[in-house]
Amino acid sequence: GAAVRVALLGCGTVGTEVVRLLTGQAADLTARIGTPVELVGVAVRRPHRHPWLTENFPDLVTTDAAALVARDDVDVVVEVIGGIEPVRTLLLEALKAGKSVVTANKALLAEDGPALAEAADASGADLYYEAAVAGAIPLLRPLRESLAGDRITRVAGIVNGTSNFILSAMASSGASYGDALEEATRLGYAEADPSADVDGYDAASKAAILATLSFHTRVTASDVHREGMRSVSAADIAAARLLGCTIKLLAICERVESNGGEAVSARVYPAMIPTSHPLASVDGAFNAVFVEAEAAGQLMFYGQGAGGAPTASAVLGDLVAVARNHVGGGRGPRESAYAGLPVRPVGDV
Ligand code: HSE
Repeated sequence: GAAVRVALLGCGTVGTEVVRLLTGQAADLTARIGTPVELVGVAVRRPHRHPWLTENFPDLVTTDAAALVARDDVDVVVEVIGGIEPVRTLLLEALKAGKSVVTANKALLAEDGPALAEAADASGADLYYEAAVAGAIPLLRPLRESLAGDRITRVAGIVNGTSNFILSAMASSGASYGDALEEATRLGYAEADPSADVDGYDAASKAAILATLSFHTRVTASDVHREGMRSVSAADIAAARLLGCTIKLLAICERVESNGGEAVSARVYPAMIPTSHPLASVDGAFNAVFVEAEAAGQLMFYGQGAGGAPTASAVLGDLVAVARNHVGGGRGPRESAYAGLPVRPVGDV
C-alpha cells in the first residue's frame, strides 16, 4: 500500500536514534506494518549542530518545522524537541489537520495533554506518547489499554533516570553530586536544563501524566507536590544506610480520601526505602514503577528510563502502532472524556 509518511521534529539524543532505527530497520518495519514507513523530513533549528544528520540525510533537513508539519504528504508527526512552545502550536496544527502525533514531550503533556487529546479526538487522529514516561518501559500502553477494564488505585516508583543515576552513584561509589550529574549528562540522560531532573520537575510532569491516565482525570504538573533531590547530601545517604535504608526520588500517585470524598494525590520527593525493598536495587538510569489495581493486584514495570536508544524504542513502538492504525483504519484509545475526580491540592497532606 501507500507509504505512511513521517515528519520528525527535533534531532537530539532521542531524535538521532529514531532516525537510525527508522532508516536502519526499514524492511522489517514494512513487513510488520504491511506498508513502508517513510521519513520525509527532519526539522532542526540549527543544522550545523547535526553533522551526522546533514551528512547522511541532506535532503530531509529543514529549519521550517511549521511548513514541514503543514505538508500535504505528511501523515504522522513525531516530536522529540521538548518544551511547551513552539511545540504545542505545531502539534495542535498537526492534530487539527488529522495528522497523528507521536511525542516524547512530558512537559507539554503534563501541562496541556487534554487539549492535545481533544484535538486528536475531534479530527480522528492518533496521539501516542509512550516515550514521555519511563523511557523504554512499556507503561502507558498497559495503563491506557491492558488495564482499561480495571480500577487503578496507586502508581508509584522511580521515573527520573538522571536523579536516580546520581543518587545511585553517590550511594555506591561515593561520587560527588557534581561529578555524577556531569556523567549523567554525558550519557544523554539529563534534560537540556538538568534542573528539570534534580529539582523534580521532570518527575512531577511524569506523575501528572501517570495520574491523568490512571485515574481518568486532569492532573497537571502544578497539581503535583514536588521536592527534588538536590538537597540530599552524602551525609543523608550515609545516615540512611545506618538505618538499613537507601534514598530514592519517588513519584507517587494514588486515590485518597479528601474532604469526605475521593480525590487524587500526586507527589514527588526523596524517600528513605528499606534496602530489602525492590525499588532500593533500581540503580543507574533504570526506572521502576509499581501499579496497583483492584482486580489485577500489584504489577511491576522495570527497565531503562532514559537515554537515546531506549527512549527511541518507545517512540518507534508508537510509530508502528500509529502506522498500523493508519493502514487498518483503526484508532488508538480516546482520552478526551474525563471522569473529573478532584485533585487534592498541593500542601494539603
Ligand atoms: N531526563 C529524563 C530522565 C529523561 O533522566 O529520566 C527521560 O525522560
